[in-house]
Parts: sequence; C-alpha cells; structure tokens
Amino acid sequence: MASGNGSNFEALVSAIWNRRIHAEIALLVVNNPGCGAQQRADRLGIPWQLLNHRDYDSRTDLDRDLVERFRAADVEGIVMAGWMRIVTSELIRAFPDRLINIHPSLLPSFRGLDGVGQALRAGVRIAGCTIHLVTEDLDAGPILIQAAVPVLETDDHNSLSQRIHQQEHHILPIALMLAAQRWR
Ligand code: GRF
Repeated sequence: MASGNGSNFEALVSAIWNRRIHAEIALLVVNNPGCGAQQRADRLGIPWQLLNHRDYDSRTDLDRDLVERFRAADVEGIVMAGWMRIVTSELIRAFPDRLINIHPSLLPSFRGLDGVGQALRAGVRIAGCTIHLVTEDLDAGPILIQAAVPVLETDDHNSLSQRIHQQEHHILPIALMLAAQRWR
C-alpha cells in the first residue's frame, strides 16, 4: 500500500530481485492516481490497482474494498509503505499480525503525523525509524525492527528525512522476514 513517492516499495522490490528475501509482491495498491509508487510499479512491471479514497463515502468503505482486493490477490502479508491514510479496524482485524507499517521515528516517541518534524522540534540527538505490526492503537503495535540515525546540528527536515529514509529501505526487507516468521 502506498500513497506517495514509493521509495520503500521499490526498496522491497530490489531486495526480492537481489534475493535478499524470498517473497513475491502480488499487488500494489495506491490511493493517489499517478503517484510515484504507481509510476515505479509500471517501470518495474508490478501489478497495481488504484483505490482512490476520494471515491469512497468513509474510511471503512475504503478499507472493506482493500480487504476484498487483498483476499482476491491471496496475500500473506501487507506493507503500508507510506500509506498516508488512517486505517480502520475493518482492515486491521481482517489481517491480524499481517499488516506492517513504516513509521519515521523511534517509537514509542513521536507517534502520529510528521515524526521527523516532531523529533527536530524536540531537539533529540538520535532519531530513526520503526517498522511495526499495525494494531488499533495508532503507531503502537508490536515493533519488528528499528534503526537509529544521528541528528546533526546542520540538519533540516529534508536532510534528516533522507537519512531516515535510507534506513527504512535497509530494514524494511528484514522486517518482512521477521514478520513472516510469525506466520508459520
Ligand atoms: C516514509 O518516510 C515512511 O516513514 C512514511 O511514509 C514515507 C514513505 O516514503 N510512513 P516512500 O513513499 O516510501 O518514499
């Protein structure tokens, strides 16, 4: 699932192609027409479907449709790779322990929106990212893996985001392996 640039999505594809992990991406779902993730999927030859949230009456309706699509694609797990929508219990309960989220902070610090900005405003010297299972408490599900990065005196939102992003790309495939161990 992706809403934006899709660099984490592509990192996962690369990890599979480079045989760092054994997996198959059955389907990419995007909610923003023409977003970077969709363009990357076209380039990489990965099937994608557009579920535009603007076409649904409620978050629950969107999530119900997501569940249907994922069941039809027979997926074992789902990665929210920059899905900029709050998901409802409709999706979370349909895939317990199988829904994975990337959050750009060292949870449990800086839940919610703009983890990077929150870290900068708090003046922390170490920031990072967390990949966790999604539960009904926002950004509070079981942690699979984290990576830390330094916050430099010279950092702004952009430079710190980039450093965190690189770590996301590195740990996402590992997180997926760790999650899959729970599914056996
Ligand atoms: C990442 O920063 C992730 O932490 C957040 O959304 C962003 C997605 O980036 N959940 P990208 O679209 O994978 O480049």
